[in-house]
Amino acid sequence: MFLLTSHRYHRSLTKYLFILFAVLIIGLSACQAPQQTTPAAPSTSPDQPSAAAPVGGVPWVADGIITPGEYLNHKAFGDFDINWYNDDHYIYIGMKAKTMGWVAVGFGAETFMKNANIVQGYFNGTKVEVADQYSVGNFGPHPDVTTLGGTYSIVDYGGKQVDGYTIIEFKRKLDPGDQYHKALVKGTNNIIWAYGSDNQFLIKHISRGTGEIIIQ
Ligand code: HEM
Repeated sequence: MFLLTSHRYHRSLTKYLFILFAVLIIGLSACQAPQQTTPAAPSTSPDQPSAAAPVGGVPWVADGIITPGEYLNHKAFGDFDINWYNDDHYIYIGMKAKTMGWVAVGFGAETFMKNANIVQGYFNGTKVEVADQYSVGNFGPHPDVTTLGGTYSIVDYGGKQVDGYTIIEFKRKLDPGDQYHKALVKGTNNIIWAYGSDNQFLIKHISRGTGEIIIQ
């Protein structure tokens, strides 16, 4: 009798301990910290516009207005101003010069204007034209890259004329990837700049010069 009772007692105790153990395990797993999920890597491809705003916090818009905070960098060469910033894929540029004619910047010139990729733009009162050119000689000519077999590489642009100044803004890949566009690289990059008095790409500058921009 005693043996039977003791046996039942042990069975009940084992059952009780088993249930207690199960409850504890379920309780513990429910209290675990939420699973850490690794955020998906940003899926920006170089072909997609990367809309990163500069540190100034003002998003870049190709509206012909150089808004404070839109660009991180600025240099003035007499009456020609260049504003720029870059992200991992693109450079964003705002050129401004005291003229009602064209304004231009060139990258990668070797001797004088030669081998420069030139972005030349104007606003003729009705519309903005922005050309992507390559200077084949020391002092031009600088035909459109497309006529040489290159690819037009201005992703976005805009422009305006305000109080006797022409402003052209554009966005271009840091490395458009053909021989008419030398890659812009981190650090110092040489530029040439110029502006003319006409809204025609072929008429020579009234002012021109050289300088440097820093790519972050
Ligand atoms: C629109 C047609 C253009 C013509 C016919 C032209 C012609 C010339 C000529 C003949 C010179 C020799 C010096 C002088 O006369 O001033 C020169 C120099 C120069 N040009 Fe042009 N140019 C043109 C456009 C540009 C553009 C768009 C840029 C810049 C993006 C530019 C940048 C320069 C620079 C920096 C020099 C001086 C080079 C040096 O002395 O180191 N030019 N250009």
